[in-house]
Amino acid sequence: MPEKKQFRAIKGTRDILPPDSSLWNWFEHTAREVFESYNFRDIRPPIFEETDLFARSIGVETDVVGKEMYTFTDQGLVQLERTRNDILLERPSHNDQVAVDKLVLQVEFVRRQAAAAIQNGEMPNTPENRHALEQLELELLTINSKIVPAGPGIAKFEASTLQIQQAVSKLRLGDVLTLRPEATASVCRAYIEHGMQALPGNVKLYYIGPMFRRERPQKGRYRQFYQIGAEVLGQSDAPAIDAEILEMLLVFFHRVGLTRTTLSVNSIGDKECRPKYVELLREELRKVKDQLDADSQRRVETNPLRVLDSKLPKEQAIIEKLPRISDHLCDACREHFAKLKEELKLRNIPYEENWRLVRGLDYYTRTTFEVTAEGLGSQNAVCGGGRYDGLVELLGGPPTKGIGFAIGSDRAILSIQEAGEAHALPGLSVYIAWMSVACYPAAVAIARKLREAGLSVELPPEEMKFKKSLGLADKLGARYALILGEDEVASNKFTLKRLADAEQNKFSEYELLEYLESERRG
Ligand code: HAM
Repeated sequence: MPEKKQFRAIKGTRDILPPDSSLWNWFEHTAREVFESYNFRDIRPPIFEETDLFARSIGVETDVVGKEMYTFTDQGLVQLERTRNDILLERPSHNDQVAVDKLVLQVEFVRRQAAAAIQNGEMPNTPENRHALEQLELELLTINSKIVPAGPGIAKFEASTLQIQQAVSKLRLGDVLTLRPEATASVCRAYIEHGMQALPGNVKLYYIGPMFRRERPQKGRYRQFYQIGAEVLGQSDAPAIDAEILEMLLVFFHRVGLTRTTLSVNSIGDKECRPKYVELLREELRKVKDQLDADSQRRVETNPLRVLDSKLPKEQAIIEKLPRISDHLCDACREHFAKLKEELKLRNIPYEENWRLVRGLDYYTRTTFEVTAEGLGSQNAVCGGGRYDGLVELLGGPPTKGIGFAIGSDRAILSIQEAGEAHALPGLSVYIAWMSVACYPAAVAIARKLREAGLSVELPPEEMKFKKSLGLADKLGARYALILGEDEVASNKFTLKRLADAEQNKFSEYELLEYLESERRG
């Protein structure tokens, strides 16, 4: 008997259970309705992609890529991997002929299997892999040439076995993949892969699904979390596009009752003006470096913009005195930002300007924005986004402008629940209290008809005592109990009991369907 074990959801992941799952469905359904009314269409990219796609898009110096990605090698070459591990485990001595022969066999096996796997596409055909195989071939020749087991011969043998270990350790047995930490990179990859630049107008896409980041779990922060995102890709970077997606976002938040929110916007310049500003910022930060904590000190060199994100109390006064990007935007970026603000006014969208809003991903240019909500503690950003003109090009596509956002559904829903704004969702409508085996066929038939009419119906699978059956209807939260006893079947009538006030009425099948359907439509 295997040891008894209780399985639990992995740290940072969770089950979304009823009735919360109904709230989630309603939330996502409302997003679809709102986004489609703005002519956005659904895209469903895969959950995992090549690691390099995220590294290039998001930036290797970012927390997401540097620390938080779930990365794995996608390979099915089990025997090859085992043999590789055996080779790495120990190096034979030159005078142990049995061990030397074993090593030769193992290396030959790895070489043959790997060459075949590269040929049939199971292993990546990279210069590194090809070089490692050539190296193995070379070292096999050296070892097989039966070198003299003394003096330089021994040194040569040892150098060879070391080279073998290094070469096999460098073999990449499969593609290196990552569970997506976000989906903007995937959408851009799909845009390029499917030649979407040939589509008329701007390409407007939205997605709903899980993302994965290995962060420290806390309230509103999970390792598997859910985003609803939208992206606009195309030739135009008109500020009206930025304003329209912000309008769409706020219309959606309004529809789901997420109203106690603040929209912050900023412009972080483009590849013309930002590098100069970043240099200036770095110079200024170097002057005060010893007053910063270790994380910020590192960022002064790697990514000075991220120092502006710091929430550490002791760094706030220092940051307030730093040069601001708004004073260093080039004319084109300043004009773009000014027009965006005009557009926001035109659409009556309230916002705050926040010069420190730089965002944690490297692909942003010009417009950046974030929405925070009340009642969430430190993880209060319910949405983040911005422009990423040039990202498609960076990934090998044509020059393309882009802008988008992603809503963190976990946090948004938490905020709705905490504000008591969660809508009462239609639950179980009708519980069928059938009372004897003779009534069962009529119960099955009416259950099917009511379900076809769009009602949620519970049909008990086994005969129950009437009182117990009604008790269960109550506990399940049904609005009505449909009573079906021998009298009802004989008279071709149904008794419908409204459980809230125990009011009872008799209906023919036709009347019953009419009544319940009109109830459902409200
Ligand atoms: P992001 O700011 O990294 O942006 O994430 C967007 C939102 O996802 C955050 O505001 C937050 O609500 C939620 N979120 C992020 N990490 C977690 C977590 N560990 N647990 C719970 N919620 C989380 C992006 O992902 C960009 N791709 C947004 C974008 C789209 N920019 C342009 N287009």
